[in-house]
Amino acid sequence: MTMKLRKISAGTAMAYLLLLACTKKQAEEFKPSAPDVPGAKVSYAAVIDPIFKARCNGCHSAGRSGTVAWTFSGFSSVTADADRIKNAVVVTKSMPLGGSLSAADLQSIKDWFDQGMQP
Ligand code: HEC
Repeated sequence: MTMKLRKISAGTAMAYLLLLACTKKQAEEFKPSAPDVPGAKVSYAAVIDPIFKARCNGCHSAGRSGTVAWTFSGFSSVTADADRIKNAVVVTKSMPLGGSLSAADLQSIKDWFDQGMQP
């Protein structure tokens, strides 16, 4: 009888630990974007869109000089040309033309590409 009880409580403890592990994992997955927290997921809407609007839109929105190469119009315009944009901004740093991004913004963009371009 005592043995059986011990088995049950060991099983319950295991189940509880597994539940705890799952809850913790989910909490990590839904961690909100915070560019200044190392390892946090970078989302397009919260972090990348404001950077592109401030630093790229002036030349790459419809009718502007940069549209000969690429037209910026939000998330899908970036993901559709991801390779070229990543190359111009992160690798060769030829963009933004005539300027440069802050180290923090550049890191956020790099992380966003590396994390698979979260919306
Ligand atoms: C001052 C204006 C200006 C700004 C700001 C600017 N661009 Fe550009 N961009 C251009 C022009 C003009 C071209 C086409 C000629 C060239 O490639 O130099 C271009 C070309 C590009 C290309 C094509 C490059 C290639 O090799 O195919 C990409 C991608 C690009 N820009 C992305 C961006 C991104 C992303 C930003 C913001 C981080 C940005 N640009 C900011 C003017 C600008």
